[in-house]
Amino acid sequence: MSIARQLAKLGYGTRKETERLLTARRVTSADGAVLKDGDRVDHDGIRLDGAPLDPPQGSVILLNKPVGYVCSTHDRPPLVYDLLPPRFPHRDPIMATVGRLDADTSGLLLLTDDGAVNHLLTSPKSHVPKTYVATLAEPLRGDEGERFTSGTLRLQGESTPLLPARLDQIHEREAALTISEGRYHQVRRMFAAVGNHVVSLRRTALATLELGTLAEGEWRVLEASEVAALVTAARNAKRSGA
Ligand code: URA
Repeated sequence: MSIARQLAKLGYGTRKETERLLTARRVTSADGAVLKDGDRVDHDGIRLDGAPLDPPQGSVILLNKPVGYVCSTHDRPPLVYDLLPPRFPHRDPIMATVGRLDADTSGLLLLTDDGAVNHLLTSPKSHVPKTYVATLAEPLRGDEGERFTSGTLRLQGESTPLLPARLDQIHEREAALTISEGRYHQVRRMFAAVGNHVVSLRRTALATLELGTLAEGEWRVLEASEVAALVTAARNAKRSGA
């Protein structure tokens, strides 16, 4: 792929604009040689104004989403894209969020421009486990775990019972809940269904991936081995109907 096309695909501008970056001698190799559009250099060997390019096509990004940020390209700000390189929403294909977190939920959010990976992780058939830590308005009574694992609990207004979910109590008013579906406001509605109220919610894990020590508002590119482990876990969860 020509350099101008590679840059355009990463959201650095239209093809015309990225061609102009080359003619302005702003695009160089890693050792500083000015590149021409016809040069055959791949992503890792290209610098723009001396800086490496954004992550290559096919990357998966882990963002520690703060409360208040919306998972959308066009909603009322602040948007999760405000925390990322401004090229991300202009890439082709777009660097899209993998599912969504509510504006008032924080924690582990993935983005990718790999449509197959995105679909695998978000398809209703995938049943990828996701763990949320909830702070609650009321102390846990003790029977919530059993009700969540029963496979019979229904959310208000829905007729299909929830798949079994796992509850691990952390403190009197704090618990980790692992679910393998993605219904609308699911965690908040599950605690409402057992007479409690979620005060704050943070996603801490998705399949094999944990939020770890990534600071709030920060992001990083997943290693190839992390993506491979996620994909394997998602395929297994789909096969087992877990
Ligand atoms: N469940 C919720 O209620 N909110 C989220 O953002 C994710 C899961």
